[in-house]
Amino acid sequence: MIRLAASILAAPFGRLEEASRQALEAGAHWLHIDVMDGHFVPNITMGPLVVEALRPLARTYHAWLDVHLMIEEPDRYLADFARAGADLITVHAEACTHLHRTLQHLRELDVRAGVALNPATPLVMVEEVLQDIDLLLIMSVNPGFSGQQFIPHTLDKVRRARTMLQAAHAHALLEVDGGIKPANAARVVEAGADVLVAGSAIFGNARTIEQAVQDFQRSIISRET
Ligand code: DX5
Ligand code: ZN
Repeated sequence: MIRLAASILAAPFGRLEEASRQALEAGAHWLHIDVMDGHFVPNITMGPLVVEALRPLARTYHAWLDVHLMIEEPDRYLADFARAGADLITVHAEACTHLHRTLQHLRELDVRAGVALNPATPLVMVEEVLQDIDLLLIMSVNPGFSGQQFIPHTLDKVRRARTMLQAAHAHALLEVDGGIKPANAARVVEAGADVLVAGSAIFGNARTIEQAVQDFQRSIISRET
């Protein structure tokens, strides 16, 4: 089953809950929450309070709160996000000096653990932790902003990541984030993705949120059948 994670970074913040509800009601499976600190990436966004605010809505729809930490020293904040209701917390390999320790920390907090790789970071950076993660996130844009163009080379990286996970008999889901639209979603799924993150394609275009989610469903289903 392919999952669609709606990235709320592109949602209208004045009516964040309503927009998130529309995405889930239309069939999005997860809410993807982009946390940025102004250091690891050149943007500042949201923290545990937003996760906490969306928790009741997510529970109603049995949707995961998929928290993507684009911050330095993520260990300092893991407990706060776990307490706020994150179902899955993804840290960047580039931000973790002791990645294995950070993943163990997530285990102790009883929250699912993900690792993200920037476009320029090779897959080998996660090779030693494949058995310790629930999700591998391949960035298909340089993190920091929604609305950027998908980097075409990423497709090959997704293919290689899928092969690497299979070879290791790892159970981790493969998520791809950045510049995903209904027009390229099928190709990303074909390359091996289990989870597609979409921000501006769901919340930021002329289509309604419901129509945009349906566009994704059509595109993904046409690949699955
Ligand atoms: C980028 C974020 C993405 C972003 C995706 O740093 O991690 O999750 O919100 O937005 P779109 O789908 O608009 O590229
Ligand atoms: Zn993200």
